[in-house]
Formats: sequence, structure tokens, C-alpha cells
Amino acid sequence: MVMKPASYPKPSTSTVSLILLPLIIFILITLIVFPNESKLQAATSDCTTSTTYADFTERVKVKPDIRLLIGVLTLPGNYERRNLVRLAYGFQPEHSGHVDVKFVFCNVTKEEDIVLVALEIMKYDDIIILDCAENMDGGKTYTYFSSLPKIFDDEPYDYVMKTDDDTYLRLNNLVDTLKRLPRESLYFGLMTPCFGTKADHYMSGMGYVVSWDLVEWISTSDVARSHHTGPEDLITGKWFRDGGKAVHMYDATPAMYDYFQPPHLCYRHEFIPDTVAVHKLKDNQRWVRTLKYFNVTDGLKPSKLYHLP
Ligand SMILES: *[C@@H]1O[C@H](CO)[C@@H](O)[C@H](O)[C@H]1NC(C)=O
Ligand SMILES: *[C@@H]1O[C@H](CO)[C@@H](O)[C@H](O)[C@H]1NC(C)=O
Repeated sequence: MVMKPASYPKPSTSTVSLILLPLIIFILITLIVFPNESKLQAATSDCTTSTTYADFTERVKVKPDIRLLIGVLTLPGNYERRNLVRLAYGFQPEHSGHVDVKFVFCNVTKEEDIVLVALEIMKYDDIIILDCAENMDGGKTYTYFSSLPKIFDDEPYDYVMKTDDDTYLRLNNLVDTLKRLPRESLYFGLMTPCFGTKADHYMSGMGYVVSWDLVEWISTSDVARSHHTGPEDLITGKWFRDGGKAVHMYDATPAMYDYFQPPHLCYRHEFIPDTVAVHKLKDNQRWVRTLKYFNVTDGLKPSKLYHLP
């Protein structure tokens, strides 16, 4: 069967002029009544004079307040935990940042993991596989930070976070806090130890944020390259000290803390509304209590398909 091109009735000359004439008249009137309008637009486009409200809101919409990458360091085989963490980040109060949550691990070597992780990537595309052998304190954090400038060279972030899969973050509070802090030389987290000499402080491994300039510094610094084994959070603090980096250390106490079990400690207390992070969520029960406190299932819609007490 031969497909005929769809045909429309051709507009006659009089129809065309009927449509065009009012348009031409409108443009003429506009140019006579608002002769400066085109000049005004030229001025606003190079940002030297005041901008209109519409321009302003447009720019806010296009550019989020901050771009933050959250790397959750985990192991290839931790499927159940990843599923839980993914759900927890999927349902968060609104915030104004651009936040990407990615799971991070080293080379996948087990046969079953290779297939299952590939499926996960196809479904969620939220996994970063680094070139390293899986290790706890053998420099995975170093590999993470130092690989990022190459991976994201086309679209760098403002901040990068390192966290673990037993930490729950409240993204709105995290974004609101970061918005008020410097974009450069920032080292943010739960200051550790809470007592002791200031000189030895570092940010707890439960989750800390460094600005992109520090990520770039880590990726090129001999100080970081030559010393990256040991407790990763302590080592990160040591890089900045040994490297003579004048970092702004911002302590998130009491908004970042360990899941509470008696007794109270400076880094361990009950839930608070302004939480940025809860740590030590090492089993499902702790996750459930935490998610319950923050009312994350309040949005569940009633349906004939299910019923929950
Ligand atoms: C990780 O995997 C890559 C690609 O297969 C390989 O080139 C590299 O040698 C591996 N690295 C380690 C530390 O095993
Ligand atoms: C959760 O909901 C309860 C009841 O509406 C409310 O009182 C409480 O403040 C909410 N908790 C948080 C952390 O928002």
C-alpha cells in the first residue's frame, strides 16, 4: 500500500493576510509604545543592571542551590541494605538542592554479584564501581575521592559526601545547612572526638562533606596518596592537617548522632526533628524506628489493593 502524504487545504492568500495583518499592526504598535523594551532586554542579559522578577525566578529554577554527591560506601553483596537505603532516600521532604545518591564499591569479582549488580545498574543507575580491591581501611575512601574529578569532569559537584550504609540522612536539613556554609575549603560533619585537643579533630566516618576544591586537592596531593591506610575518617582529617590545607571545619553537633541506646554520650542521643544524620542503623529494627520517627510513611494513599494496620 502506498502511503499518501497527508494533505491539508492550502490557505488562500486572503486567509494569510487576514492572520498576518493584525500581527504586523500589533508589532508596530508595540515598537511605538515601548521603544526601549529591546534595549532593556539587552541590558539584563549581561547582568549589569537590575533583572526582572521573571528572569530571577527562571535562574533559580535552572540552577539548584547546591550540587551534592553522596557516596554510600557499601559492598557488592549488600543487596537488602541497598534496597532499604534506596527507599529511605526515595522518600525525603522537599529540598532545593541537586542531590545524587550513589552506592560505591570496589571491583566486583563474585560471579553472582556481577549479574545482579549489572541488573541493579540497569534498573537504578546509582552505582559507582571504583578500581580497587574491596577493603575496609585500606584506602577505599582515598580511591573514592581521588577518582571523582575524572568521573565527573564534565559536571563537577559543589560538595561531595562520604557516608556508610548504616547512616540515614535527612536531605532537606543537610541541604539547608550546607547552603549557609562556604563553598570552598569546607569540611563538614560530626567533629570527633567531642573532647580532646582541637588539633587532632576530624569528622566522623558516619558521613562527612568536603567541598569540590578539596576533592580535587585530594586527587593530586602526594600527602593523601602516600598515606591512605588506617581508619578512613581519621586519615581524611590528617590529610588536611599534614597538607597544610586551611579547611573550614563545621561541626554538625547535635544534628548528627548515633542511634540512641543508654547512656547518653556527646555523639549519642534521642531523635531530634532537625536531624541531619542518624548513624549505627545496623539492623532493620533500628531503620524502622528511625523511619517511623520521621513519619516517612505518612504519604501512603488508601487503596482497595492493600491494608496496613
Ligand atoms: C579492577 O578491575 C579493572 C577492570 O577489570 C582492572 O583493570 C583492575 O586491575 C582491577 N583492580 C584491582 C585492584 O583488582
Ligand atoms: C510526625 O508526625 C507527628 C504527628 O503528626 C508530629 O507530631 C511530629 O512532629 C512529626 N515528626 C516529625 C519529625 O516531623
